[in-house]
Amino acid sequence: MSHTIVIFGASGDLTSRKLIPALYLLSKKKRLPENTRIVGMSRTDFSHDAWRKELKESTQKFTGEKFEEASWTDFAANVYYHPGDLTKLDDLTGLKSFLEEVEGGEAERVYYLSTAPRLYVEAIDQLGASGLANQEEGSRRIVLEKPFGYDLGTAKKLNSDVNRVFPEKNVYRIDHYLGKETVQNMLVMRFANSIFEPVWNRNYIDHVQITVAEEVLVGRRGGYYDQAGVLRDMFQNHLLQLLMITAMEAPVKFDADMVRDEKVKVLQSIRPMDESEVRTETLRGQYAGYRNEEGVPKDSQTETFAALRLWVDNWRWNGVPFYLRSGKGMSCRTTQIVIQYRQPPLTLFNKKDRPIDSNRLVIQIQPAEGIQLQIQSKVPDEGMSTRMTSLDFRFCQQYSGELPDAYQRLLLDALQGDASLFARSDEVELAWGIIDPIIKTWRSDKAPTLHLYEDGYWGPNESADWMAEHGRQWFDVC
Ligand code: BG6
Repeated sequence: MSHTIVIFGASGDLTSRKLIPALYLLSKKKRLPENTRIVGMSRTDFSHDAWRKELKESTQKFTGEKFEEASWTDFAANVYYHPGDLTKLDDLTGLKSFLEEVEGGEAERVYYLSTAPRLYVEAIDQLGASGLANQEEGSRRIVLEKPFGYDLGTAKKLNSDVNRVFPEKNVYRIDHYLGKETVQNMLVMRFANSIFEPVWNRNYIDHVQITVAEEVLVGRRGGYYDQAGVLRDMFQNHLLQLLMITAMEAPVKFDADMVRDEKVKVLQSIRPMDESEVRTETLRGQYAGYRNEEGVPKDSQTETFAALRLWVDNWRWNGVPFYLRSGKGMSCRTTQIVIQYRQPPLTLFNKKDRPIDSNRLVIQIQPAEGIQLQIQSKVPDEGMSTRMTSLDFRFCQQYSGELPDAYQRLLLDALQGDASLFARSDEVELAWGIIDPIIKTWRSDKAPTLHLYEDGYWGPNESADWMAEHGRQWFDVC
């Protein structure tokens, strides 16, 4: 069976920065299924060669030392361009004939919508009308980039519009966090080892912290960002995905629906918040200077930082708070999950004025990918005094070579028909169901205070105070 990946929005930034470099590196490593071709479509009037030339330059830039002339030549021989407007039926009918010509027989296809999200519905309708989505001619999958709607209502509408043309099993909603090696390693750590699961529950864990800190500011994305805010941009998708992977039960098999069934159960267990809980269980901030960014109104109330305390009301997690925080303009770029264990029942060694820290498992998603288990050990030659030390696993020390970009894994899975690492429609809707009421209160006169913060720190000072009120402390380590 041959494969075609059709990229709509071929002249866009995502295509040159992420998609083509990932496909090229897969091809260089001989990972692409045999007989895979790439067809780009956008309104720009390129010839095949002109597009290949453009892509060569950008791929050289984005793959750096990994770029090789010979492997590029092999790859580029399977790259084609077909100009057209994906919202025009005639152009898609023309594309269909072109694809049949280059495929020369039966082929599986992946349609990648790397376009503005406002075009999704029209594009999908035209894919249906032109016969490009006809599953009887071979598997036809569609890959969508976030945002999957703007709130629960629009997400439901988008899902039903997409499912009118593509069956759910063929809809691949990308959350690039799931393509990160270290996020997948969480599943391996939890379910390929037997020592963590017995202590992965309310009996041993005091709380969980999930931090996605970014040093960058909104830059030139002010127009988009001000409409979205940190909850839509990061929490509805990436942070809730990390929470699901941390909290889910073991699936019976590593099968797309079985994995996603377990993730969905986590979202179903998250306690919904009413207005008064939004005031106590959430914290919002905006970095000083945000209102001077291009595209941002001078009186913007949009959050660039948020912290939430969520409760997963199920047998395993009852009573264990999950603290989630994310922001732009923070101290450093770090994504980490911290499992904070309880204090030992009897503390034999601590001095009264210096309680010892309890165990912590720190899962570093990026940039220093690895896992540290922090344990108390005896300081030599100092009586029975103890100190926190770390059993430290780092990917870079155990494996040579760089970790692949998330898009390599996700594109390959989409080509091979494995949707395990893609979001399903019910997952997306449940996630909106958690985030929507928070945004609604934040936009009302009941909104908690918007705290301003200086960039370069860990968000507003109130965030540390809020944790202290709960008798806890953020793990602020880069
Ligand atoms: C994107 C957000 O989904 O994720 C961006 O829209 C954010 O605002 C980015 O910067 C973070 O991704 P990563 O992989 O750099 O952590």
